[in-house]
Amino acid sequence: MTTSTHYPTGALIVAEHLSKSYPVGSSSVEILHDVSLTVSEGEVCAIMGPSGSGKSTLLYCLAGLEQPSSGEVALLGRSLTRASRKQLAELRRAELGFVFQSYNLMPTLKVADNVGLPFRLRGERVNRARIESALDAVGLAGRGAALPSSMSGGEQQRVAIARVLAQQPQIVFADEPTGALDTRAGRLVLDELRRIGGTPGQCVLIVTHDPAVAAACDRVVFMRDGRLAQQMTSPTTDSVAAMLAALEASVEEAA
Ligand SMILES: Nc1ncnc2c1ncn2[C@@H]1O[C@H](COP(=O)(O)OP(=O)(O)O)[C@@H](O)[C@H]1O
Ligand SMILES: [Mg+2]
Repeated sequence: MTTSTHYPTGALIVAEHLSKSYPVGSSSVEILHDVSLTVSEGEVCAIMGPSGSGKSTLLYCLAGLEQPSSGEVALLGRSLTRASRKQLAELRRAELGFVFQSYNLMPTLKVADNVGLPFRLRGERVNRARIESALDAVGLAGRGAALPSSMSGGEQQRVAIARVLAQQPQIVFADEPTGALDTRAGRLVLDELRRIGGTPGQCVLIVTHDPAVAAACDRVVFMRDGRLAQQMTSPTTDSVAAMLAALEASVEEAA
């Protein structure tokens, strides 16, 4: 994969002038406009913004799951835009972790086998010890033999987090990871994401609508109408909630 020297050291996610449009009838709508963003190692960064502001689209473009219409994305110093489909798939399997609101668990596999699935997909020996300690970290020690369907939504989300933990990826992308969870389960999930993000050489990017989740991050970027509108370091629940309310009000006013 293309390695470039112009990305700053420690910058694990670099997006430059990203735009994304979708065709609608004979024209197109632009969902992302000229978004540039860098996330560095050891950083947990939140993306917030009104509903429909393009948060998920941005996350998917950064994760290589969607192709931007223009602009560049580099992960770990390697350009995604110039990578082949095969190189992208390899990068995704080896270095990236995903936590989405739909947990993407395989219903016919036991919990431990779901957590260990990425090992199998890479053709590696399944690391039982890592699976067990990951399940332990999310409060599911001893539940490896259960089927996902026997678990609550919160427990299933924690299985999805354990799958990421067991892989120890360098970059974790999470889209509303605590959206469907109660406060306690949400806190556990968030603590684990923060632990991953705080590890040298790793980072976490979380889309969230919860000011308390954003306040637990190192930095919050706010989107409005497909653009980066604001950034906040040292966020607090109150400052984040106030900024989000102001952005939502400005969107309503414009509508
Ligand atoms: N595949 C698609 N085709 C057309 N429009 C889309 C598509 N995906 C998302 N959109 C539109 O892009 C906008 C941003 O969507 P999204 O990134 O999901 O926002 P958010 O996550 O901030 O709620 C929305 O108006 C949505 O309807
Ligand atoms: Mg979304």
